[in-house]
Parts: sequence; structure tokens; C-alpha cells
Amino acid sequence: MRINKYLSGCGLDSRRKCEQYVTDGRVKVNGKVLTSLAYDVKDGDYVEVDGKAVSLSERKVYIMLNKPKGCVCTSSDEKGRKTVLDFVKIKERVFPVGRLDYDTEGLLLLTNDGELAYAVTHPKNMVKKVYSVRVEGEPSDAELKRLRNGVEFNGVKYMPAKVVVLGKENNDTRLEITITEGKNHEIKNMIESLGRRVLFLKRTEVGGIRLGGLSRGEWRYLNAKEVDKLVSLK
Ligand code: URA
Repeated sequence: MRINKYLSGCGLDSRRKCEQYVTDGRVKVNGKVLTSLAYDVKDGDYVEVDGKAVSLSERKVYIMLNKPKGCVCTSSDEKGRKTVLDFVKIKERVFPVGRLDYDTEGLLLLTNDGELAYAVTHPKNMVKKVYSVRVEGEPSDAELKRLRNGVEFNGVKYMPAKVVVLGKENNDTRLEITITEGKNHEIKNMIESLGRRVLFLKRTEVGGIRLGGLSRGEWRYLNAKEVDKLVSLK
């Protein structure tokens, strides 16, 4: 099995991120630092990451967290900020599926199933992500149409989004926006392309799985039906 697939199967991260482990020189096979991404792991190989042995045997775990604002979606933060893993204390080593910004809250999936993380985040699968967005002011019909047709911001193109106006909030507007990409700061950049700001951003759904009534900072295991929905993407 190719090294990136093997490492992600051990629960380290998505396949793409695991390639980075290799290029960063963090992976050893049979005591030697691995230099090639093309390496196929064989039966009996002793694989280490950061000096710790890894293996494929771990039970697969699927979790949803209601990520609060004020934490990052990485396993460790160089600035010492709180991470999403501080909320989920279990013995298996899980990692976030995709990212939410520091100041974004809502549904974040965590797993040790690298293949599943890869399937959920890969643009080719066009997995739906739904956001509740408080936007400054009152976007006009023409502005909403631009979001629905696809916009460009700082040279990056964003695909057409489904946009529903949920209502007015004082001088601002609550929108529900559904996207299928997953580019960095996608929603904020789409709104900025209109010359407006996002005042609040919460993800409510990923791949048909809903956040529901989970409180901020709380997490739960996905049920069998929810896991099946995600696994069908693999
Ligand atoms: N879009 C953003 O701008 N930020 C997020 O955290 C998620 C989607």
C-alpha cells in the first residue's frame, strides 16, 4: 500500500496531508527516513512517525464537534491557542476533516479514517456544506444573483452557491449559503467580493449530516446512519 494511504489509514491525517509528513522527513521505514512518496509499504515494514510506531489496526472513530469560536483546527498551534482536539478527550488519535476558521463556529467532523477525510474534502466529490451567515447590511437582489452565479475575489474563482435569505437582523441580513468547494475563507471571500463583511459564520451541515442541537464545545459520535452516508463517498 502506498505510503500516504498507509499513514492516513493509521489515523494520522488525510492522504494529502500525510504526503507532507513524508516530505517533511518525519516518516521512517525500518529505521530509515523515507524520501520517496512512491514507497509501497510491505508486510513486516516498521513504520514510524516522529519516532513513534504506527499501525493500521486502530478502530475507526467518527465524531462531530460543535466547534466554538476561538480555537484552531490543527492538532497543535505554534501560538499556543486552543485547538479543537482540546474538546475531544478520547484514546484514539483523531484529526479534523477540513478546516473552520478561528472565528467560525459549528459542525466539524473528526475521525482517524484518512480515506474518509480524503473523500469528504476532495473537490471532485462536491460534498455540500451549509453555512448560516450574518452579513453586514442588506445585499441587493443583484448581489445575491452574483453569489448564485459564482464570484471572483483576489484572483480566486468561487463556484455558484445556493443562497437563501433567512431574514433581516436589525440592519444586517441572515443568509443560508450552500457550497460544494471548500476553499480557504470561501464564504468570507465570497461576501467580500460584494464589498460586504461577514459578521457571524456557523456551519450547520456537511454531506447531509446536521449539527442539530449540540451545544458549543460539545461533541458526539456519529450514529450508524450518519457514518454510512459519509462512507458511501469513499
Ligand atoms: N468559509 C469561511 O470563510 N470560513 C470558514 O471557516 C468556513 C467557510
